[in-house]
Formats: sequence, structure tokens, C-alpha cells
Amino acid sequence: MRLENKVALITGGGSGIGEASSELFAREGAAVGVCDLNADTAESVATRIKDAGGRAIALQADVTSRADVERVVDAIVGEFGGLNILVNSAGVSDRGAPADYDTDQTWQWVMDINVSGTLLPCRIGVEAMRKSGGGSIINLSSIYGLVGRTEWLGDGFSAYAHSKGAVLQITRDLAIKTAREGIRVNALCPGFAHTALTAGLRDNPELLARMEEAHPMGRLGEAIEIANCALFLASDEASFVTGTALSVDGGYTAQ
Ligand SMILES: NC(=O)c1ccc[n+]([C@@H]2O[C@H](COP(=O)([O-])OP(=O)(O)OC[C@H]3O[C@@H](n4cnc5c(N)ncnc54)[C@H](O)[C@@H]3O)[C@@H](O)[C@H]2O)c1
Repeated sequence: MRLENKVALITGGGSGIGEASSELFAREGAAVGVCDLNADTAESVATRIKDAGGRAIALQADVTSRADVERVVDAIVGEFGGLNILVNSAGVSDRGAPADYDTDQTWQWVMDINVSGTLLPCRIGVEAMRKSGGGSIINLSSIYGLVGRTEWLGDGFSAYAHSKGAVLQITRDLAIKTAREGIRVNALCPGFAHTALTAGLRDNPELLARMEEAHPMGRLGEAIEIANCALFLASDEASFVTGTALSVDGGYTAQ
């Protein structure tokens, strides 16, 4: 098993990439704190892990709240004795903003969750990792952290692209800061994947065809294909990898 004796906190663990990572990491031997804003989905993922013989706890939290994130990290350390892995998978796109928000409110909402909601767990998680003798952080950026949002997507990913660029700079900055402390910090840049985040887009057959065509492989990704890359970065196999952005995009950014 590739994560034996490791303790992982996975934000956004109730759905999509966070859910796939929670289950995969548990199968590889990690004790997992499944953290999500949605208490029900966090609970059902943690229950599935335990039913399969793994170790997990469900933790409801808003990643934009320092008090929530501190409570979650304390709970994991209290339950499993430390923290070695953090996956920041909680995230939103502009399209998910409350219907009555204007452009400015939507921009702030996305930045709060995607940027502050990545930075806070990083800051608080690093303290726990230092006490645990080191660790690995994986931040979910996007192809739109690397390239501009394509025009045919409309404005639904404007703030999203800004936020995902910031996630890459948080990753690089923290990686340099913690490089000599045994803490590695990396980012994943997925292309479009079949998760709840893209459900509203995939419902439109024309848009779905365009999205598939935009990836040289001619298809979208699956959450497990991204989780597999998170597993590599979390594991000791990636012991000399820090500050990098790994594209998991079927060739999208190679064009
Ligand atoms: N699916 C894709 O196509 C894709 C592509 C590139 C990057 N990403 C990124 O990967 C990450 C995971 O995306 P996904 O596709 O699994 O999405 P998802 O919608 O399936 O899951 C996101 C989870 O984050 C949780 N969340 C939202 N706001 C939160 C908050 N304030 N506090 C705690 N939890 C909160 C949601 O409840 C949800 O369970 C996101 O950061 C996303 O931007 C996704």
C-alpha cells in the first residue's frame, strides 16, 4: 500500500475529485478526514470507506472559515495522531454562484472559496505537518490556471480562471517556503472531468461535444484519473517533486 501509516485531510471530499481521492487514499492505507461543506455527502463517503474496512471521519466545514479549518485539523490530529497529506479539492465555478449575485459578488465568492479556501487549509495544515515530521499538499488548480478560459464557455469561468492562477502561485510560494522542512506542495491542473462541477455544462449536448473536442484525446476525464495523480504526489514516490503543476488534461494545454 502506497500511503500506509499516513493521515490525509481532503477538502471537498464529499464529491467528485475529492470523493475519488478519499476512497483511493483509504484503499492505499491512509486514514482520511473527509471534509466538505455538505455534511451528508462527507458522511456517506466516510461511511463507505469504513464499510470497506478503511479508516475515515466525516468533517463538516466551510474552507473559507479559519475557525472551521482549525477545528477540522484539530479533529483529525486528535483522531489519527497527526497530519501528513492535504488535498485541497473544495472548489466552485462562477456558474455555481447564487442567482442574485452580480459580477462583482460572483468574482468575490469564487475567489473566497477557491483561493482563501485553499490558502487557509495550507497555512493551518502546514503547522500540523511540521509537528508530524513532514507532509505533502496537493492543490486543485485547473487548465484555466495555465491558459485563458475559452470564449465559447461564456463568462461562467472568468473568476474561476483568475482563482486557479492564484492557486498555482500559492503552490509555488509555499513549496519554496517549506522545501527544507520535508513538506512538498504541488498542484494538479485537470481538464474538464465528469463531476458535479461540470454537470450543468454537460447537460447541453452541443457544449459537451465542444468540450470533448477541445481535449486532443476527444473526451473528458474521470475523477479517478485525477485522483490517481493526487495519489502519486501524495506518496513517497514523488519525494523530489515540489512546486510543480501537473496537467491531467488529455492534452488540452499541449495545443
Ligand atoms: N471537474 C472538473 O472538470 C475540474 C477541472 C479542473 C479543476 N477542477 C477542480 O477540482 C476541484 C474539485 O472539483 P470537482 O469537479 O470534484 O467538483 P465537485 O463540485 O464535484 O466537488 C466540490 C466539492 O467542494 C465542496 N465545497 C464547495 N464549497 C465549499 C466550501 N466553502 N467549504 C467546503 N467544501 C466546499 C462541495 O460541497 C463539493 O462537495 C475544484 O477545485 C475544481 O475547481 C475540477
